[in-house]
Amino acid sequence: MNDLLPQKLRIWRDLEKKISSVFCSYGFEEIRTPVLERTELFLRGLGAVTDIVEKEMYSFEDHLNGKKYSLRPENTAAVVRASVQHNLTYNEPKKLWYYGPMFRHERPQAGRYRQFFQFGVEMLGYDGFESEAELILMCKAVWQAIGLSGNLQPVLKINSIGTSEERTLYVKALGEFFERYIDVLDDENLKRLKKNPLRILDSKNENLGTLKNEAPKISSFLGKSSKAHFENLLSLLDSYSIPYEVDLKLVRGLDYYSSTVFEWKASALGAQDTVCGGGRYDALVPLLGGSQQGACGFAIGMERLAEILETEYGNKEGCFLDLYCAHTSQAAKMMAIELAERVRKEGISVRVDLTESSLKAQVRRAFRNRAQFLAIFGEEEMKAQHVNVRWLNNEEREGQQRKMPFGELAEFLLKNKHNDGNLYQ
Ligand code: HAM
Repeated sequence: MNDLLPQKLRIWRDLEKKISSVFCSYGFEEIRTPVLERTELFLRGLGAVTDIVEKEMYSFEDHLNGKKYSLRPENTAAVVRASVQHNLTYNEPKKLWYYGPMFRHERPQAGRYRQFFQFGVEMLGYDGFESEAELILMCKAVWQAIGLSGNLQPVLKINSIGTSEERTLYVKALGEFFERYIDVLDDENLKRLKKNPLRILDSKNENLGTLKNEAPKISSFLGKSSKAHFENLLSLLDSYSIPYEVDLKLVRGLDYYSSTVFEWKASALGAQDTVCGGGRYDALVPLLGGSQQGACGFAIGMERLAEILETEYGNKEGCFLDLYCAHTSQAAKMMAIELAERVRKEGISVRVDLTESSLKAQVRRAFRNRAQFLAIFGEEEMKAQHVNVRWLNNEEREGQQRKMPFGELAEFLLKNKHNDGNLYQ
């Protein structure tokens, strides 16, 4: 679990703003659910024989009421729970997005944490293949908005895992196939063979690579309607020139999926290279007590996204503060505080140095705080009621300054400051 320190959060806030505005541009509305849910929700929703439920949940019994709760390991089940509870799809389908921390007790390694943040979307009440196409277009819009283009753009892997009836036949065939190789399977996969052979395809054991390639393919088990859904989706992606790779081994690690599943992989990352995963989960809403309805969604891992940008572009430092006010006396400090209050009302960010440090130390601090402008308040400024404003952290205008009456400060800053929101573009 990581502390997110201010420098990192500059990048995060930039990403958060851009990603949420892409979601809003597709007509999604935000939803916030609690980080704690009844454990039962995840047992039923994600499947009892998934890695997450078997060994990764932070669960506890509340001694005050004897009920079991878990920190949410993901948010799809909770969003569906909330939608059923509040009857959100009563009149019309719903498009929802969320952002927040998820918790999984995994073995920590680069790109895999026990608390991590997801940006996710869920489309509830949507049956057609156009919904998955929209999800994928939206992911692409996110990559573009945050500056992941060219060889930084994640690659889309996609598959169809059919209906639950089709999957039952497939899982049976998979079981029979792997049964013949029990001497090659490790303990973990022997367990999977007994409980759910589909999970063997999820295995990270590299020795099983060839075996997984030779195993029966889900595509041979898809019925007419599943095939048509998948083919229609792929041709829509083709018509939008979205490259993808059909990966017949892609099954995803959660039981609620059916039909389309997809992942975006980023080559800039190490072993944990999936930045986004999602798919269709039509059976989940009725499973959690709602009416039968189509649903699909995805979630993006924030840490992994931020890591690509940091590795690729370095820890870029934009200017995050418009004005830094330094002073030469207590009276000048009070003057600066008063003027700062006035210009903040105009939408300018100001930090007044509240210390007694020397002017030199205060100026150094102004640079370090990445302010765009510095104003020094001294005896002369107080007498003349004017202020000297200097450009800082600006290669072209470094050292230049402008004198102006107090009353003109806000207008000058609004005209001359730049918005450094696009850190990576
Ligand atoms: P997921 O594949 O388990 O799917 O997680 C989605 C993304 O969250 C991953 O692709 C990865 O970027 C990030 N992630 C997962 N675990 C970790 C971790 N331990 N540390 C850092 N990042 C991680 C879901 O959670 C589904 N709820 C997605 C979904 C939404 N499907 C339909 N709707």
